[in-house]
Amino acid sequence: MMKTAMTRNRAFAALFSLGAMFAVFATAVPTQAVAAGSNFPLQRAPVNLQDAVSLQRGAQLFVNYCMGCHSANYMRFNRLTDLGLTEEQIKEYLLFGTDKVGSPMTIAMRPADAAEWMGKAPPDMTVIARSKRPNYIYTLLKSYYVDESRALGWNNLAYPNIGMPHPLWQLQGAPQLKVEEKQSHGHAVQVKSIVAGEPGLMTAVEYDRAVGDLVNYLVYMGEPWKVKSTRIGIIVMFFLSILLVFVYLLKLEFWRDIKH
Ligand code: HEC
Repeated sequence: MMKTAMTRNRAFAALFSLGAMFAVFATAVPTQAVAAGSNFPLQRAPVNLQDAVSLQRGAQLFVNYCMGCHSANYMRFNRLTDLGLTEEQIKEYLLFGTDKVGSPMTIAMRPADAAEWMGKAPPDMTVIARSKRPNYIYTLLKSYYVDESRALGWNNLAYPNIGMPHPLWQLQGAPQLKVEEKQSHGHAVQVKSIVAGEPGLMTAVEYDRAVGDLVNYLVYMGEPWKVKSTRIGIIVMFFLSILLVFVYLLKLEFWRDIKH
């Protein structure tokens, strides 16, 4: 009697620990709720590291529109083969003059010169999506407006008086600031928003998608192994769920002939 009770407890303990393992896996999904140091409402970046086409487009935008000022010193071009690009494609579409396919994404601009021109040196971008968070960067790139009072002609609602001029103005055009007076709890408050101005090469929908792809790429660049580890994680979860069925059947088999 004692013995069967113990065996039963042990079987329950085994099932329980399996369940606990699932719970740990399920809650290990990273959360993105961290604020970016500004109280401007953030929009949600459509990050999907499994979308290789989006990551490839993002990589191309990064090289063409960000690497004029920002380096990604800890990222090598040939790592982009992870995204399904061949070395030939990397050479043809992404490399400038002297870069080799194995070189890191360094740039020629000296930080001191950049700081003199724009007030602050552009930070390295390798892990920017981890330090600044994807939703913030997504919102930032959608919050530029023309401001003649600023030295470089641009301002930003998510980061007022930012040193970086609008890096994607050719694509988005020149948005304008709209200020409305609204009543809130009996007080007049100013509500600022961005409205379309002179058009760029893209429509609003295309621009949102491009910024989404770019942020997706920045997230990937901060944790390039994540693409693979997520895939492995899914396989592990699948394997464990199959295993659970067999463990449960085994438990039924053990207890079949034992009277309760
Ligand atoms: C003309 C040079 C230039 C280009 C091109 C440029 N940046 Fe910047 N970027 C800067 C500078 C300068 C800063 C520092 C601004 C500051 O803190 O005032 C900066 C800062 C940033 C930051 C940090 C903002 C913060 O809150 O501290 C992000 C994110 C960023 N850039 C993303 C991008 C992306 C993405 C691109 C490409 C689409 C890009 N930048 C292209 C100059 C540039």
